[in-house]
Amino acid sequence: MNMKRTTPTKLRSRSVSISALVAVLVLICGTGHADMTELLPKCTICHGEEGISDEPAYPSIAGIPVEVQVDAMRGYRDGTRDCGPVSRMCKISEPLTDAEIRELSEYFAAFPFIPAEQDFDPDLATQGSFLHEDFCEVCHGDSPEDSDRSILHGQWKEFLKYSLSQYKIGARKQPPSMRRQTEKLSERDIDALVNFYASYGTSERPQNR
Ligand code: HEC
Ligand code: HEC
Repeated sequence: MNMKRTTPTKLRSRSVSISALVAVLVLICGTGHADMTELLPKCTICHGEEGISDEPAYPSIAGIPVEVQVDAMRGYRDGTRDCGPVSRMCKISEPLTDAEIRELSEYFAAFPFIPAEQDFDPDLATQGSFLHEDFCEVCHGDSPEDSDRSILHGQWKEFLKYSLSQYKIGARKQPPSMRRQTEKLSERDIDALVNFYASYGTSERPQNR
């Protein structure tokens, strides 16, 4: 083909730089916008539509601050955060890019956290409210909205009990600053805390402040 020879050099180089620009733009937009329609069902199957889990073994992730979710997902993917045997978070996060992790985190963080409605023992819940204040509140806050970390208030009992027991027996890594607090807990303390967090879903929760 001799088309090229007839194209003026100046015009050709301009069209090359325009197509280069388009390619760069496509690349930027392409990586910035993960294909959410494909990714989301891989999360909502356990964490629920809009991040509210109706399965007691899985935590709700709606409303957890974006950076906390990004940290958690990167930790699972890069091996700095353990995955309990129940979850497949390590496997699930393995193929995700940083941009996809951020987009998923922003998506779930934008929904309001809704406490799970569940039974609890009121006496244990009262004991748990004091334990929470002494050992956990500094990082996990006094309500779902107040947590700078994973949300505990209104989270499913089964998930919490399982996570805390795993931490206690050393089956899961945890931040050193949290270990100093969780290693003081007896089995009964764990039950008390779990019942306190479960009580958050109802109006009968203990008022100790
Ligand atoms: C098979 C069920 C399952 C699927 C699918 C799943 N998760 Fe999870 N996820 C869990 C469990 C269980 C935990 C609690 C931690 C653990 O046991 O590893 C968790 C923890 C998390 C956390 C940390 C929550 C916290 O309180 O610190 C985030 C964030 C998260 N998942 C996001 C996602 C995203 C985003 C996807 C989709 C790409 C996803 N999960 C898919 C079960 C699942
Ligand atoms: C010094 C800050 C700090 C304190 C104090 C602390 N935590 Fe945490 N907690 C964290 C961080 C950071 C994470 C995110 C965990 C990770 O990256 O593995 C977390 C995560 C959790 C999780 C989520 C686990 C999961 O499987 O997703 C639970 C449950 C938890 N903490 C319970 C507690 C309880 C109960 C107490 C009090 C006895 C407590 N924490 C005290 C910082 C703290």
